[in-house]
Amino acid sequence: MSGKRPFSATVFKNRALRARIWRLDVDVEPPQAQTFLAAIPGQFMEVRLSDLSLPRGTEIPEDLRDAARRQIILRRPFSPCDIRKTTKGARLGVLYQIRGPGTLRMSTLGAGDPLSLIGPLGNGFDVPADLRRALLVTGGMGAPPIEYLAEYLKTRRPDVDVRAFAGAKGLEELPYEVRFDNEKGAILDEFRRLNVESCIATDDGSVGFHGFVTDCLHHWLERNSPGEGRCIVYACGPERMLAATATVAQAWGLECQVSMERMMACGIGLCQSCVVPVRGDGGTAVNKLCCKDGPVFDSKDVIFE
Ligand SMILES: Cc1cc2nc3c(=O)[nH]c(=O)nc-3n(C[C@H](O)[C@H](O)[C@H](O)COP(=O)(O)OP(=O)(O)OC[C@H]3O[C@@H](n4cnc5c(N)ncnc54)[C@H](O)[C@@H]3O)c2cc1C
Ligand code: FES
Repeated sequence: MSGKRPFSATVFKNRALRARIWRLDVDVEPPQAQTFLAAIPGQFMEVRLSDLSLPRGTEIPEDLRDAARRQIILRRPFSPCDIRKTTKGARLGVLYQIRGPGTLRMSTLGAGDPLSLIGPLGNGFDVPADLRRALLVTGGMGAPPIEYLAEYLKTRRPDVDVRAFAGAKGLEELPYEVRFDNEKGAILDEFRRLNVESCIATDDGSVGFHGFVTDCLHHWLERNSPGEGRCIVYACGPERMLAATATVAQAWGLECQVSMERMMACGIGLCQSCVVPVRGDGGTAVNKLCCKDGPVFDSKDVIFE
């Protein structure tokens, strides 16, 4: 289900979790609330940020000062990290990283502000009826749709065993609350609350496993094996990490769904700016659109950069 007309949501809360990682919660009223409550993890929305003001000069990080001045015309895509029913409709959680002029503006939103959205858009992750185990893999800001998928599976598919593997460059880039447990070491609070076992990997070793999240996944599979029944690897993050995840999944004979990231101008299949090359019939490359045919693809089909 998708909604392609802009509508106005209302900011409930907007706060910094780390220096560059923020969480925005917005309230959506009916009829769009119902559409979002029926959304599939991995679907996204296009957010209009062009009419918002920039933070005060001193609050703009040095490395973003030039980018901050850039005019922004196009909406920006974000995948909700959770969608909850409220008495008046639905509340969407958006976990975002401040990266440029749009997200800098987003950080100035306050409770009660209106925000123009279009969505939910795209296809989302496929959760087949015979799924028995889901291995969720995230890298950096690939976290939001994976967090929502974990919650979705725990609430709607309690028959599925869910494990999460989260990677980042270091602790500061990890878009989660990290908790230290005497027995298990560093664990992710968002997954603990859902009763999902999680494993953290950081490139610099500042927390959890020292190395890539895909190595963490591979070691876990060596120790545990995928087990009986259908097991799918679901991944979202930088393209190199998605390619590495696909390689691990293939080595274990597992299906793998990857949520791809592309710059998106229209978000609804009109501008052709978000091409993802995939293998067509006979192995020839065919261009698919990330916003319309994706953002989730079967990793076997994707021709990674
Ligand atoms: C389907 C989808 C879902 C997304 N969900 C989230 C989310 O939940 N949270 C979040 O923080 N971000 C998410 N993103 C990325 C987010 O859209 C960008 O970070 C945002 O548009 C940056 O806007 P900006 O104006 O602040 O920075 P810009 O100036 O637009 O970008 C800053 C830098 O980031 C790079 N960049 C920006 N967007 C992309 C992209 N899509 N692919 C590759 N490189 C990019 C640019 O090349 C530039 O160097 C998602 C992207 C897609 C396609
Ligand atoms: S963003 Fe315009 S076609 Fe995909």
